Amino acid sequence: MDTTALAREDLASLLQWYVEHGLDETIGEEAVDRFALPPPAAVAPASLSSSAPPRSTTAPTPIRAATPPPTARAPVPLESPQLVEDARELARRCTTIAELEEAVRAFEGCALKRTAKNTVFADGVAGAPIMVVGEAPGADEDRLGKPFVGVSGQLLDRMFAALGMSRERDLYITNILFWRPPGNRTPTLAEQSICLAFTRRHIELARPKLLVLAGGTAAKAVLDTTEGIMRLRGKWTSLKLDDGTEVPTMPTFHPAYLLRTPASKRQSWLDLLAIDKKLKELNLSS
Ligand code: URA
Repeated sequence: MDTTALAREDLASLLQWYVEHGLDETIGEEAVDRFALPPPAAVAPASLSSSAPPRSTTAPTPIRAATPPPTARAPVPLESPQLVEDARELARRCTTIAELEEAVRAFEGCALKRTAKNTVFADGVAGAPIMVVGEAPGADEDRLGKPFVGVSGQLLDRMFAALGMSRERDLYITNILFWRPPGNRTPTLAEQSICLAFTRRHIELARPKLLVLAGGTAAKAVLDTTEGIMRLRGKWTSLKLDDGTEVPTMPTFHPAYLLRTPASKRQSWLDLLAIDKKLKELNLSS
């Protein structure tokens, strides 16, 4: 038997398994500049190195300094209340969605930006009657720089198409996070709080008639609650924004959850019907 071929096959299926489980990047939380780190010999314990005889009389190879090169960016701390305050202040100063997008793209206070390929800001029509807020970009969204363009985005489109709505005309779509968490892990509370400062301002500036929160993470973060999506979904609530306005808000299941649990589509459809009904009522009253 060709053991090399077998090992290669095993490795290929292991990689495939990793990808299917969301492990599609060989990265950690923070980028490590291995060129800037001293080689292992340079960090040997003093007791070993001091007793060892010199290996040669020639000058030692210089070790690269452990300090980052001047062009490297300083590491972003993962947790800092100041970063949330900075994000809130920056967001508050924006008076249009275009300004907010520029501020988000220029913001360096969220460590997720380091590992993401793109900033994923929004898609659809700014000022549309319905604003959908999801959790975070996945691999497809990160690659294309637009929210909800992968399989769950296609389901989201089909769900609203069933009501005769489209993202080209009736929807404005974003996420609580603007950058993909590595391997699609759940964003930390610190990452959520930083991005949420911009997302709350995003909702104020977009002024939707209705807000739809897709999935438990978005619902908990935006509504600032510990209640799970099973309890929150299907119930209208009024989201109070910092500018004093309020927007009728409906938490519902995330389309990725519906893909995994098709039996929940029935409840999701009831939520969509409630959204359609509310929008019609609001249009009549305006
Ligand atoms: N899931 C989300 O919550 N948002 C996206 O943009 C894509 C998938």
